[in-house]
Amino acid sequence: MDKKREGVVIIGLGYVGLTLAVVMAERGFRVYGVEINKNIVKILNRGKSHFFETDINLRLKRVLSKKLFSAHHRIPKAKNKFNNYIITVGTPLNKFNRPRVDMIERATKEIAQSMEEDSHIILRSTVKIGTTRNIVMPILKKSHKKFSLSFCPERTLEGDALSELEKLPQIISGINNVSMQRSEKIFQKVTSTTIKVSNVETAETIKLVDNTYRDLIFAYSNEIAMIADKVGANVKEVVSSGKKDYPRTNVPIPGLVGGPCLSKDSYILNESLKKFKIKSKIVMSARKTNEFQPTYVSKFLEKVSKKLKWPKNIKIALLGLAFKGVPETSDLRGSMSIKVIENILKVFPKAILYGYDRLLTKKEVQNLSIKYSPSISNAMKEAHLVLILNNHNDFQKFKVSNKTNLMKKNSIVYDFWNTMDIDQANFTEGVNYISLGNHALCLKRIESKS
Ligand SMILES: NC(=O)c1ccc[n+]([C@@H]2O[C@H](COP(=O)([O-])OP(=O)(O)OC[C@H]3O[C@@H](n4cnc5c(N)ncnc54)[C@H](O)[C@@H]3O)[C@@H](O)[C@H]2O)c1
Repeated sequence: MDKKREGVVIIGLGYVGLTLAVVMAERGFRVYGVEINKNIVKILNRGKSHFFETDINLRLKRVLSKKLFSAHHRIPKAKNKFNNYIITVGTPLNKFNRPRVDMIERATKEIAQSMEEDSHIILRSTVKIGTTRNIVMPILKKSHKKFSLSFCPERTLEGDALSELEKLPQIISGINNVSMQRSEKIFQKVTSTTIKVSNVETAETIKLVDNTYRDLIFAYSNEIAMIADKVGANVKEVVSSGKKDYPRTNVPIPGLVGGPCLSKDSYILNESLKKFKIKSKIVMSARKTNEFQPTYVSKFLEKVSKKLKWPKNIKIALLGLAFKGVPETSDLRGSMSIKVIENILKVFPKAILYGYDRLLTKKEVQNLSIKYSPSISNAMKEAHLVLILNNHNDFQKFKVSNKTNLMKKNSIVYDFWNTMDIDQANFTEGVNYISLGNHALCLKRIESKS
C-alpha cells in the first residue's frame, strides 16, 4: 500500500462499509477494511462484492489492483500507522425490537486495544441517540490513550450508494472541536459539501429523522390508499393528479415499505426516547400502519377468493422479492415480501407459492420457503393470483399484462405498486387487475364484466 496516503481502517464491510471503502480508496486514502466474516474477506480480495450495487465489482477490482484497498479479518495491531477508524457494523433489532449495540461495543473494544495515541474514531452506523457519547466514548477512554471521536451518519440509498457518497452533503459532528475538524478534513476529500452540527446527539438524531420521515410519508400514503379502497377513489389519481403543478403537496405512491433501514429506524428513535420518558406517537403509528399492510391485503384477497370460488391449492406467483425495485437491489433484509408470504399463507394455507426476482439466486428464493421461478412467465403460468411486490422495472406496464394469457381463468393480478393504470390493464379475458388503493374501483369493474 502507498504509505504516503492517509490511512483509514473501516470496520464492517457490509453495504455501508464496503461502498465507503471503495470511494475513500478512490479519493486518495489507503483503506484497510476489516470484516469479521472470513468468507466475505476472501471474496472481496478476489474483487467480488457479496451484494449487488451498481458498478461495485468494477470499482472494487480497480482499487484492489492499485493496492489502495484490502480486506482483512482483524484490526491491524498497534504501531500500524493507521490512525483513523470508521465503524460501519450493523445495528439490527433484537427479538424485542430494540437496537443491538453488541457489534458496536465489540468493534470499539478492538479499536481501543489496537489504536495508536491520538487516533481518530468515526461512528457511522445508525444508532440510538446517545450511543457515541455514552457507549463508544467510555470504551475508548478505558484505553487511557488520547483520541478524538465523531458521529458522521451514512445517508446513501442502496443501489446508488457509490455515486451518492460523492454527491450527498456529509453531516459532521464531534465530541469536541478537534474531533469535528478531523472528520471534516477526511470527508472534504470524499464529498463537496460537509455540514457541521453542534454535537454528536444532533447528528445521531438527523439520521433517525431522515429515515423516520420517509417511513412517515409512506405511511400517510398507505393510509390514503386504505381510504381510497373504501370510498371508491382512484389512489393513483389522488396522488399524481393532486400534486401535478400544485406546489403544496408531494404525496408518494403507496406501496410496501420495508428494508434494512426503514423497518428498524423508527424503533431506534422510539427506544432513544424511553430514557426521557417520552413516547413517540406519530412515528410509531406510521411504522405500525406500514407493518399492517400485508395483513390488510391478505384479508382482502381472502374475501375476493371466496367470490371467485378458488380451490384451496391455488398457485400464487410472487414477483419482486427484494425490499425495493428502484434502484434495483438483491437485499432481502426487512423486505415486506417476507411478511406478505407469512400473511398470505395464513389465509391460503394450502397454496403453492412461486417467487421470481431477477436479482436473487435460486437458493435465496428457496430460503424463503417458496418455490423458485426462473422467469416471470414461469411464475405466472397457471397462477390464480399474481402479486407484484416491488416496483422493479421488470414488472412495469406490459411485461406482466402481456403474460396474463398464461394464468388460470377467474384469476387476479394484485399490484401493490400501481404499476399499471386500471384502464390500461388490458388483460386476457378472465384475468382481473386489482391494485392497492383501488379496491372498490377494481371490484366494481370485475362485477360489471361478470
Ligand atoms: N444499508 C444501507 O443502505 C444503510 C444506509 C445508511 C445507514 N445504514 C446503517 O449502517 C450500518 C451498517 O449497515 P449495513 O447495511 O452495511 O450492515 P451489514 O450487516 O450489511 O454490514 C455490517 C458488517 O459488519 C460486519 N461486522 C460486525 N461486527 C464486526 C466486527 N466486530 N468487526 C468487523 N466486522 C464486523 C458484519 O459481518 C457485516 O458484514 C447499520 O447501522 C445501518 O442501519 C445502512
